[in-house]
Formats: sequence, C-alpha cells, structure tokens
Amino acid sequence: MIPIQKNNLVLEAAKNQSTDTVPVWFMRQAGRSLPEYRAIRGSGSILDTIQNPDLSAEISLQPLRRYGVDAVILYSDIVVPAYAVGFGIEVVPGRGPVVSQPFRSENDLKRLRQLEPEADTEYVVKTVQLLTKEIDVPLIGFAGAPFTVASYLIEGGPSKSYVYTKSMMRSNPKLFHQLMEKLSHLAISSLSSQIEAGASIYQLFDSWAGVLSPREYGAMVAPYSKAIFEALRKYNVPSIHFGVGTSNLLEIMADSGCSTLGIDDRIGLDQAYARTNGKVGLQGNLDPVNILIGTDTTIAESARVLEESAVCDGYIFNLGHGVLPESNPDTLAAVVDFVHQYGTDIRRQARNRAQDK
Ligand code: CP3
Repeated sequence: MIPIQKNNLVLEAAKNQSTDTVPVWFMRQAGRSLPEYRAIRGSGSILDTIQNPDLSAEISLQPLRRYGVDAVILYSDIVVPAYAVGFGIEVVPGRGPVVSQPFRSENDLKRLRQLEPEADTEYVVKTVQLLTKEIDVPLIGFAGAPFTVASYLIEGGPSKSYVYTKSMMRSNPKLFHQLMEKLSHLAISSLSSQIEAGASIYQLFDSWAGVLSPREYGAMVAPYSKAIFEALRKYNVPSIHFGVGTSNLLEIMADSGCSTLGIDDRIGLDQAYARTNGKVGLQGNLDPVNILIGTDTTIAESARVLEESAVCDGYIFNLGHGVLPESNPDTLAAVVDFVHQYGTDIRRQARNRAQDK
C-alpha cells in the first residue's frame, strides 16, 4: 500500500520553520461565501448545525475540496463552550452571539460551570474524529480567548464601545478576573478535547482585544491567554494567537507562549516581524475587502503581502480577518493557486539572497 502523503506545511510554518511552499488557509473559509454551504446549512441556528457532526464535518471539508487549502478548520463557533454549559447564549444570523441576560454581577458566575467536553460537547469531539479520519492536511481546532468571549457575555451581543466590559474591568476588577478565570478553563477544556480527538494545531481567537491599551491588555487579559498556551503545552502542538486591531499589542501577544501570531491587515508583515524579532511565526494578512473588489486587485495585494512576508521564517498566508459573506469563491481559489506559486518563488529568492551574503 502506498502511504498517504501528509501535507504538514501549516504545522511546520506554525512552528516557525521555513517551508519551500507557503501554506494558505482562510479564517471563515467555511461559511456563507460558499453556495454549497448555503445549500446545506438550512435556516435554523448555527448552533443546531454545529451539533450535527456529519453536517459540521461536511461543511468543514467544503473549502478543502473547492480551494485545495493547506488546512481545515473545525466548523464550530467561539461561543459553543459557554452555550454548552447552559449560560444562555444564541447566535443570531447576520448579527452574531446574543445573550438575553448579560453577565453583570457575582450571581452570574454560577451560570458558568466547568465544561465536561465528553458530555457537554460530544458533537465537537465527534466532528473532529470524523474529520481527522478523512483529511491529509492538519485540522485546526480553536477557541475564543477569554476576553473576546467575556465581551459577548458582558455586553450581551456585538458591541462598538465595550462600555460594560471596560466598566467592569475598571470598577469591579475582582469580578472581571473571576470571569476571565472561568472562561480560561472553558477554553482549556474545549481545546484539550479537540486536540485529544485529533486536531493537530489550534488557534486562539482574541478578535476584540484590540480595543484595549497595552497597559490594560497586559495586566488584565494577557495572563489568562498565557495560562491557556501554558496548559496546552503538554500536547506539543503548534498554536496561533490572533486578534484584530492589535498592532499595538503584538509584542505582548507574541510573548504569550503561542508559536505563531495572526496579524490583521492594519500593519505590514515586515513591521510585525520587526516588532516580534522573529520569535514566533506569522500568519496573515490580506485585507478581506480585496476579495470583494475583484481578482486583479486581490492578486496584486497578495503579491505585496507575500513580498512583505519574505523576512519571516515560519509563515502562513491568510486574510487579516475572516472571509466576508459576499466574497466570490473564484477569487479565493485564485489566491490559493497564486500563493502556492508566487510564495515558492519569493521563498527561493530570499534563500538565494541569504546565501549570497
Ligand atoms: O473559520 C471557520 O471557517 C471556522 C468556523 C468559525 C465560525 N465562527 C463559524 C461561524 C470560527 C473560527 C468562528 C469564530 C468566531 N465566531 C469568532 C472569532 C473569529 C472572528 O471572526 O473574529 C467570533 C468573534 C465569533 C462570533 C460570531 N459567530 C460572529 C461575530 C458571527 C457572525 C454573525 C453573522 O451572522 O454575520 C458568528 C456566526 C458564525 N460563526 C457564522 C459562521 C459560519 C455565520 C452564521 C451562519 O451561517 O448562520
């Protein structure tokens, strides 16, 4: 029997090792931009779809089939652990997570018991098992970082100003810390179960951490994310730490114990590299809006991103944030082919330049 050739480019790059071919996947690659997703998703809550392992596995595989990306990401959501312990959270299409009774007082701590993944989120474990049996690329597990999940629980839904979250951080830091502690445990339990079921890499999404100053982020948020990377170190799998608008937090985020840092499109990869001293691999950072502008613009911008990435050792091409629902899948397919070709050229040139020196 010929052994199946595993494509481990994402794992190598995420360990901050240089690869000949630049690997690529897209945040939110599975989802509403794909007609095949819209065809099978139905109209109920996304949380119902997530609880069906056959359907979730199929949705996770759709971008692999269509684009030939170098990794599959589990189809789930960052609010699943809080939902599974009965906190009372829904995901409203077109809006995002919504909580009818937001977290505002000490009494609310009782609504967050420990997660028992085998019982509470057996469907996630099953989906991971189904997927890892089938794919020859890494499966990316994920969790929401405590701050980003806390912001939904405290605000009650998506927010622009984070008034309630910042207010709790400053007027009742004890309660905020207790909440962060509980949410760290949820993330650790959920990620452990995904890794034990077969995920070979994970991403911690702290999407909204960029609303904080480095001082407040460093004192009140970073220790919890750090504790998550520390608790999962025993699995020896690479990890990606990602946030939006976090250009001012990169040094602290790179210090969290992650092996790769996800970069959004508000800073050049070359600058991000300089700021983090090559200590971690980098992932990113094509502005997802390019996909809506058209293929020519997208390819030109992808070329620039690849050129800026040449300084990195480990590098994974991605968007600066998730695929927008209005994206044309053909443009994303063109990006994957382009990254595999031009990325290889750029890496070869960088190696030759280094040897000439
Ligand atoms: O990336 C992937 O393809 C994997 C699946 C995934 C989803 N959500 C599926 C989803 C991942 C990794 C997430 C993470 C997530 N969810 C984040 C962090 C990443 C980020 O975007 O910053 C956040 C903040 C959430 C919370 C959330 N869930 C939002 C803001 C929304 C969008 C609301 C909307 O409908 O526009 C969701 C819903 C959601 N999560 C969808 C998908 C495919 C779309 C809902 C649907 O199909 O009905």
